Amino acid sequence: MKKNIVILGTQWGDEGKGKIVDCISSDAAYVVRYQGGHNAGHTLVINDQKIVLHLIPSGLLHKNVIGIIANGVVVSPTELIKEIQMLEKNNIIVNKRLFISSSSPLILPYHIEMDLAREKKLGMNALGTTGRGIGPAYEDKIARRALRIGDLKNEKTLSVRLEKIVDYYNHQFVNFYQYKSMNYKIILNNLLPIIELIYDMIKDTTNILHSAIKNKKKIVFEGAQGTLLDIDHGTYPYVTSSNSTIGGVMTGTGIGPRNIDCIIGITKAYSTRVGCGPFPTELFDNIDKHFSSKGHEFGSTTGRKRRTGWLDAVSLCRSVHINSISSLCITKLDVLDGLDEIKICTSYKNIYTSEIILFPDINEWDDVLPIYETHPGWKQKTLGIKKIEDLPKQARNYINRIQEITNIPISIISTGPDRSDIIFINDIFHIKKSII
Ligand code: GDP
Ligand code: IMO
Ligand code: MG
Repeated sequence: MKKNIVILGTQWGDEGKGKIVDCISSDAAYVVRYQGGHNAGHTLVINDQKIVLHLIPSGLLHKNVIGIIANGVVVSPTELIKEIQMLEKNNIIVNKRLFISSSSPLILPYHIEMDLAREKKLGMNALGTTGRGIGPAYEDKIARRALRIGDLKNEKTLSVRLEKIVDYYNHQFVNFYQYKSMNYKIILNNLLPIIELIYDMIKDTTNILHSAIKNKKKIVFEGAQGTLLDIDHGTYPYVTSSNSTIGGVMTGTGIGPRNIDCIIGITKAYSTRVGCGPFPTELFDNIDKHFSSKGHEFGSTTGRKRRTGWLDAVSLCRSVHINSISSLCITKLDVLDGLDEIKICTSYKNIYTSEIILFPDINEWDDVLPIYETHPGWKQKTLGIKKIEDLPKQARNYINRIQEITNIPISIISTGPDRSDIIFINDIFHIKKSII
C-alpha cells in the first residue's frame, strides 16, 4: 500500500497546494512542511470560511492530523505564535499536535530588516521578495552562523550568540545601508515569552518521521513556492532561497527518496507569478483581466496583484522531469469558464533568431516568445463540479491535452476554492493512465 505523498508546485507558487493538501489529508497521520517559511500563503476554504496558513501545515484543519515543521523550514517564532493563536480563535487547537524541528533556522527581526534594506537598495532591480526575511535567514544557515529553534532552549548561550550576530548585522545596516542599528536585548526580550509557548513543540522531527514510516503511517509532504522559484532550478536570481523541488523533501526532513510513494505536481489551468522575473506566457490584455478578477489573483501573503498568463507546457514538462512527478493535479479549471478560446504554450521562439526551441535554457527565458496551440473554450459553469463526466467536452479535451503533452496522468482536478470543489479521477495511489 502506497502511503507517503508529496504535494508540490510546478509553476511560480500559488498553484493551490494548500487546498489540495487539505483535501487529501483527512486520513493522514502527519502533514509536513519541509522548506520555505512564512513567505508561503496557503488558502483553505471550508464552507465559505477562509483560512490562510503561512507556516503551519495545511492538514492541521483535520483534528486527527499531526503537523510537522521540519528542519528545512525557516521559522519566525513570532509568526508561528500568531498563526497558532489565529487557529485557536477559529476553534482549531494545535496543542500537542504540532512539532517543530530543533534544527530549523530562526527568522529574527534583523533578517526581515535586511531583506527590506536589500530590496530598497536594489531599486529598479529588486527581486520583489515577500519581505519576510527568507533570503537572509537561509544565508545564515549556509554560512553556519544561524540561530536555530533548538538554541531557544538555552537562554544563556542564546543571548551570547544573539549579541554577536546582531553586531555582525549592525555593521552592514550602519555602514552599507545607512540604516539604524538594532539592539539585541530588545530582540531577546521579545523572544523569551514566546520560547515558553513553543518549548514543548521542539523535537528531532526526523526521528518522529522515521518512526511514522516504520509504523506505516500516512504522511503528506506539503511544498511551498513552486519549481520555477527553486534556488537551483528556478529563474535565478528571481527565485526564493530554498529548494522547492523534490530534493527539498529529503534534505528538509531527513527521510530518503525510497520513502516517497507518490509525487503530485500541482498546476493551475493557466499561469501566475507574483514578484519580478521572466514569465514567457505573461498577458497584459483582457484575458489577464479575466484571470485576475475571476481567479482573484492577488497574493495570499502580500496582497500584490499576481501577473497572469496562459498555461506554459514547456515549463510544466521541465517541472515534471525535475521533480519526477508521478501524477498531476490541475487547479482553477473553473477560472477558464466563459473564454472563447484557450491557449497552451508548446514551444518557445528565440526573439533574435526566430529559432523554435523545445528545450530552452531557463537562463534565456527573457529572450523567448511563446508559441501557442489554441483550443475551444466552453460557456458552461464548471465551478463546483465533482464528477469528470459532468465537465463540458471542451474542458475534458483541454485536460486530456495537458495529459498528452506531459505524458503524466492527471489524478485530481480542482473546480473551485472550497474543499468540496474537487474531482478525483484516478486513485492517486494506483494510477491508471488516461481514463478521461
Ligand atoms: P498555494 O500557495 O499553492 O496554496 O495557493 P494560494 O492559496 O496562494 O492561491 C490559490 C488561490 O486559489 C486561493 O485563493 C485558493 O482559495 C484558490 N483556489 C484553489 N483552487 C481553486 C480552484 O480550483 N478554483 C478557484 N476558483 N480557486 C481556487
Ligand atoms: P506559496 O507557498 C508565490 C516569490 C516572491 C518573490 C520570490 C522571492 O504561497 O506558493 P522570498 O520572499 O521567498 O525571498 O521572495 O519568491 N514567492 C512566492 N510567490 N507563492 C509563494 O509561496 C511565494 N513565496 C515566495 O514573490 O518573487
Ligand atoms: Mg500561496
